[in-house]
Amino acid sequence: MHDLFLSAREAMSKAYAPYSKFPVGAAIRTTDGRVFSGCNIEVASYPEGWCAETTALGHYIMGGGGEIAEIAVVAERMARITPCGGCRQRLAEFAGADAKLYLCDDAGVVETVTIGQMLPYGFEGKILK
Ligand code: THU
Repeated sequence: MHDLFLSAREAMSKAYAPYSKFPVGAAIRTTDGRVFSGCNIEVASYPEGWCAETTALGHYIMGGGGEIAEIAVVAERMARITPCGGCRQRLAEFAGADAKLYLCDDAGVVETVTIGQMLPYGFEGKILK
């Protein structure tokens, strides 16, 4: 748990957030122990930037995907960040409702919730397949 927080915090140190000055880091661990992390990346055309969770998901997919056990999220300037709505939907695409989500401050995990708790009544794509 704490080591996944450390991976998220390390990722946060790479954030490219010159506009918001709000660095965020995220780390995803699969049940077989692989860890994929990411930071937020902003763009001068503001809506084109993206979140730390999204970068981490990109690394997770490119690393082969798999079952997600736990996710950690940390932001330098927020005591207990929760993923934005879009990232809740993205995380729920790949992480089951029971996957753990660690909400962190700059020292460690502050609260543990599940993906299901973060996105109740979420839209599921099953019917589209
Ligand atoms: N941000 C994230 O990286 N993850 C979230 O869940 C919330 C917001 C980023 C996006 C933007 O670069 C900055 O935080 C301010 O919104």
